[in-house]
Order: sequence, then C-alpha cells, then structure tokens
Amino acid sequence: MTRRAAILPSHTPELFAAAVAQAVALLRAGEVVALPTETVYGLAANALDPAAVHRIFEVKGRPADNPVIVHVAGMDLARRCAATWPRVADRLARAFWPGPLTLVVERASELPDAVTAGGSTVGLRWPSHPFIQAVIRQAGFPLAAPSANRSTELSPTNAEHVNRSLGDAIPLIVDGGQAQVGIESTVLDVTTLPPRVLRPGMISEEAIRAVLGTANEVAAPSAGQSAPGIRRSPGLMARHYAPRTRLTVLAWTSTDELEQQLAARGWHPRRCGIVAHTVIPGGESFGDVSVIPHDPEAFARALYAELHRCDALNLEGIVVEAVPADPAWRAVADRLRRASTPT
Ligand code: TXA
Ligand code: MG
Repeated sequence: MTRRAAILPSHTPELFAAAVAQAVALLRAGEVVALPTETVYGLAANALDPAAVHRIFEVKGRPADNPVIVHVAGMDLARRCAATWPRVADRLARAFWPGPLTLVVERASELPDAVTAGGSTVGLRWPSHPFIQAVIRQAGFPLAAPSANRSTELSPTNAEHVNRSLGDAIPLIVDGGQAQVGIESTVLDVTTLPPRVLRPGMISEEAIRAVLGTANEVAAPSAGQSAPGIRRSPGLMARHYAPRTRLTVLAWTSTDELEQQLAARGWHPRRCGIVAHTVIPGGESFGDVSVIPHDPEAFARALYAELHRCDALNLEGIVVEAVPADPAWRAVADRLRRASTPT
C-alpha cells in the first residue's frame, strides 16, 4: 500500500502534546511510526505486539535474524523486559541512562520472538530524547525501534531523511529536530563477563570501564566480529550504514596531494564530495567541499547529514578525510569503515 507519511512538528508544548497523542494512538493500533531519538531517528512499534514488530521488518526490508533494540523510559520497564538484571547493568544504567547506550541482557519471555530474532537476549535502551520518552510513558509499553531507514542504508538524523527513505510506507514521522548524537548507540553485551562492546558508539569503552572500575575489563569488538555461522550482532555486518554513492577515506597533507590521489583513482574532483576537518582543500577544481569540526562529537553529529546530502547530489564519489586513531574517534572511525567497504 502506498501512503504518504504525515510529518508532525513538535517544537512547541502544544505541538509536542498533539504529536505524542497521535503517535500513541497509532502505536496502540499496531502501526509503526518514525520518532526522534538523540542518536538517530527510530522506526517504532509496540515491542509487545508481534504483528506490529513484524511490520517493522517488512517496512525496512530487514532480515528476520537481525534483532531490534527495545526502548524503555524508566528502570521498571527495563527490568520488565529482562529475565535477569545483572549488577553491571544496574551500574551502567545508573551512569548512562537515559542516553546512547544499549545493554544486551537475557530477555523476558513476555517479549515476542521477532524482537530478539528468536535469540535469548534483548538489547535495551532508555533514550534521552524527550519526545520518545513521552511516547513510551503515555503508551505504557516498550517500543521496538531500529533506525528509521531501509535495511543497509544510512541512518536518518532528521525527519527529512526518514521521509526520503520511508515516507511512502509509514503513516507518521515526528520531527524532533536534528539528532544530537548523530550516530547509533553503543551496544554492550552484559550477559558475558567481561562485558563486550558489540557496536562502538559515543559512550566509549573507556567511559564504561571507568564506571565499572578497574576490576572489570571491557572487551572490544573482535576483528571480523564472529565465527562462521554465529552472528552475535548482525548490525556489525561489514557493509552497513552506507550511502549509495561509493565512499572512500583518504589522508592528505595538501590540496595537490588530494588531487593526485583522486587522479590515481580516476575520480574527477569536480564530481566528488569532499568531507574534510583538518586540511581543507582549496582552489577551483573541487565541486563540493564541506567542513566538519575536528572534534569527535561534532563530527558524529554532522556525519550522516553530510553523507545524506552528498548522496542526493549524485556524485561520482564521496571522500572523507581520515580521522585520528584516537579512542575518542573510535565510533566515528567504525562508521566510516563500514560506509566505505566495497559491496
Ligand atoms: O541508537 C540506536 O541504537 C538506534 C536508535 C533508534 O535507538 N537504533 C538502532 O537500531 O541503531 P538498529 O536496529 O538499527 O541497530 C541495532 C543493533 C544492531 O547491530 C543489532 O544487531 C544489535 O543492535 N542488537 C539488537 N539486539 C541485540 C541482541 N539481543 N544481541 C546482540 N545485538 C543486538
Ligand atoms: Mg540501523
């Protein structure tokens, strides 16, 4: 069925309340709706309604073996979704919730199999964006919500990105402004000791380790991620979070050097989007140069919007200036790596 999503603003108290009411009514009716979160926009459905969760997979074209994150607003709801609540989960939730951290715990039997992709664990997150919090509180049920894009595409960081990807497939998109974190949450498996980072995000391993204390290690994602046949976290597939336009990450020390590197690839500077943060190419030859501040948080906030923008220009390629090999840049480097892996 083709339909056009209503896009509701939420920037005044009256608009906010009206949009919450409409989102809750649709969710109660088993529909999926796109809602703002502080990381990226989410495609939300009642996590306790198997048919509604199934609809998320249908709309996204998401493989059934990729579990979705369940969003809560409060510790009671989080614990209701978990079979057991380990001490580490408690300490991390206290430190980082609401916020961009997803904790993988043993699932409660109340959750439908579709949410967990039939597995025994569930990823839980209490987001900090006030809009999705208000929706969860008013609805009274947790929300299953992956990023609001078609499977393998770039995650959306504003309502317009969602509209371009899913506007013809869902009834409602709520505009809650530009996502403030800009990349997806850190996913941390706390069913194992030490806990393991399944997907790096802006809450770093170092920050997690600081909360857990020196006695607790935190394991980083392993190279290649998983043994054959075991997809611990399918979102960690090599190519994911990718623009349609081919993307490459390069380092250069001057405009000339960048031009030489493009020439060696047969890419024409006029038909490339250059995303730079330190050595900004100058001169007449470049068609599209954008600058993101040399700061990991600002970079994460702006990255997907830049890639979405470049994608819409139908360029020959996107070139992103390599980021420092510093822990603070790890999550950004991870997304750039996935975005630039050839198909
Ligand atoms: O920031 C975010 O996490 C956003 C917003 C909407 O909250 N959501 C998001 O969801 O990025 P999604 O579905 O696009 O990515 C979820 C990631 C995937 O890598 C998935 O494999 C992993 O979390 N995941 C979910 N449940 C899991 C589980 N039980 N065990 C292991 N990995 C899980
Ligand atoms: Mg996603």
